[in-house]
Amino acid sequence: MNVALLGFGTVGSGVYEIIEKQQERFRALLGREVEVVAILIQDKTKPRVVENGVLVTSDFEEIITLHDVDVVVEAIVGVEPGYTYLRRAIEKGCHVVTANKELFAHKGFELKALAAEHNVNVSFEAAVAGGIPIIGTLKQLLHVNQVLKIEAILNGTSNYILSEIREKERSFVDALNGAKEAGYAEADPTNDVDGFDAFFKIVILAELLYGIRLEWGEIKQKGIRDITLEDIQLTESLGFRLKHIASLEWEDGRLKIGVEPKVVTPDHQLYAVDGVDNAVVINGDLVGELKLQGPGAGKYPTASAVVEDLVNVFSSIQDPVLPKDVQLEKSERTLVHPWL
Ligand code: HSE
Repeated sequence: MNVALLGFGTVGSGVYEIIEKQQERFRALLGREVEVVAILIQDKTKPRVVENGVLVTSDFEEIITLHDVDVVVEAIVGVEPGYTYLRRAIEKGCHVVTANKELFAHKGFELKALAAEHNVNVSFEAAVAGGIPIIGTLKQLLHVNQVLKIEAILNGTSNYILSEIREKERSFVDALNGAKEAGYAEADPTNDVDGFDAFFKIVILAELLYGIRLEWGEIKQKGIRDITLEDIQLTESLGFRLKHIASLEWEDGRLKIGVEPKVVTPDHQLYAVDGVDNAVVINGDLVGELKLQGPGAGKYPTASAVVEDLVNVFSSIQDPVLPKDVQLEKSERTLVHPWL
């Protein structure tokens, strides 16, 4: 499977590293190797550790015309140029995997329609909640459930900043710098701290759940930029906690959807979700309430979601496949992890 990687920042380089290390697993799962044949970069002068023979270029046309690419993985920021690149890739018959929430919130409908026309897949697990397999989980639940409510923490940077201010009395700027250094925040963190990032993610979830295009102007959206240490301490002294929460709920035949800081009580499912973790509380009519929690940002959790999508493009296998025949004696009690 030949892969072209668009973007070699935190996520793109993580994807490259995982692919390089996982060949044995890919052979077992897919019966073939996965090879990164080209990488699109912005700045050609930055030093990068890439195998010989991989085309490293800042010219997308070079990638899409010269190489036999099966899957294009997009990990750039913003709607453009990613949208143009992915359209070209789909028209050429490539499957696409994107980690770009802004692009997918804006153009998910168009990409899915174009992909259906060309009989290829568009996957976007990494676009929402980092390493949490929320897209796969919702698709699975939707086979039999109606999901009428979701409450979630969807921006790792905001949750990290609020936690750091509360736990260590760090200043907003200092905590934000910590999020940048850890690779959680975007290069321009405006979308993180002003609520746009969580907004894009809840829009993607709503559109997946209901197949409708939302009127964005009607969605309440607020970030954490104005929250002070005093706000946080006052809330804590009253026994509550401030959390940046994205939610959607059907009420009286209308979808209520919004993103804003909220005060929650200790018995709330999101009260104790701290640091870079994201969490999604899902209410399905049959399954009841589920909560998924895990790293919502960062190099390997997000890259893991991208590579999961990559494998799923060529595999209908639902369960893990062992790399070699593992024969366990009936009496054997200790299971050895097959990959270690
Ligand atoms: N900047 C994003 C966040 C990265 O902090 O959640 C993951 O989408």
